[in-house]
Amino acid sequence: MKIAETIQEVREQVKEWKKQGLSVGLVPTMGYLHEGHKSLIDRAVKENDKVVISVFVNPMQFGPKEDLASYPRDFKRDSALCENAGAALVFHPQPEEMYHEDFSSFVDMSTLTGGLCGKSRPIHFRGVCTVVSKLFNIVMPDKAYFGQKDAQQLAVIRHMVSDLNFGIEIVGCPIIREEDGLAKSSRNTYLNEKERKAALILSKSLQKGKALIDAGEEDVEKIKQTITEKLESEPLAKIDYVEVVDWNTLEPVEKVEGPVLVAIAVYIGKTRLIDNFIQE
Ligand code: PAF
Repeated sequence: MKIAETIQEVREQVKEWKKQGLSVGLVPTMGYLHEGHKSLIDRAVKENDKVVISVFVNPMQFGPKEDLASYPRDFKRDSALCENAGAALVFHPQPEEMYHEDFSSFVDMSTLTGGLCGKSRPIHFRGVCTVVSKLFNIVMPDKAYFGQKDAQQLAVIRHMVSDLNFGIEIVGCPIIREEDGLAKSSRNTYLNEKERKAALILSKSLQKGKALIDAGEEDVEKIKQTITEKLESEPLAKIDYVEVVDWNTLEPVEKVEGPVLVAIAVYIGKTRLIDNFIQE
C-alpha cells in the first residue's frame, strides 16, 4: 500500500490505474479509524479494483469553539488498518497541501444544510462540501463511500454531486454499532466510563421512537416527545436536537408518510454525539 502526502502523487497513481482500465473507490475520512470506517473500506474493496482512503482532519469544517485541536489522531494505526483491509493508497495531506495561503473558493449549499447539525454548526457543511469536492477532483473516483451515521452529510454530498455533475456514485453504508447499541464514532473516545454508559441513551431513545412508528404512529410531535422524554431521563444528556425530517429534502414533516430521517444530537458531558435511523 502506498502512502501519499501530496496531491501530485495521488494524481499520478490514479492516472496510471485509469490507463490500465481499473476502477477506483474513495473512502474520505478524518482518521482515527474504527469499525464504522472499516465497513466502508471493506465495501469499497469489494466493489472497486483500487481503493484510496483519505485521512485528513479538515480544519475548514470545525467551528472556532469546536474540537479541531483535540480531535483524536493516530496515523500509524490508521495506515495499518487500511493496509490490512486491502486499500491501495492512503492520502494523508498536511493542511497546507489542501489549502494554500490564498485559498478562497468554497462550495456552499443553500438547501439541506440549515437544519439539524447545520443549526448549531453553521460553517460545518461548507467545510465538508469544499473538502469533499477537492478530494473528488484530486482522486476522481468512480464511487465514494459515506456512512449513514452522518446522515445529513450523506444527503448533502448526494445533492452536491447531482448539482455539480461530479459523475461519481455515492454509496451510503449502514451505521455500525458497539454491541450495546452505541453508534461507533471517533468522538466516543472522549467519553469517560460514566459518560460512556450514559451515551447509551441515544440508541435507546431512538429504539423507542422506532417502535412507536413501527406500531403505526404517524404523528411526528408524539414521536419526538417520546424520544425527548427518554433522553431527558438521563441526567448527563443535554439535547441539541430531536428531529423528524423528509429523507430527501431534510425539511421537517408533521406526519410520517414517505421515507423520513429521525435524527438526534445530544451532548453527553462536553461530547456532542449524533445518531439516527431512516424509516423507509
Ligand atoms: O465524515 C467525515 O469524516 C468528514 O466529514 C469527511 C467526509 C471525511 C470530510 O472531511
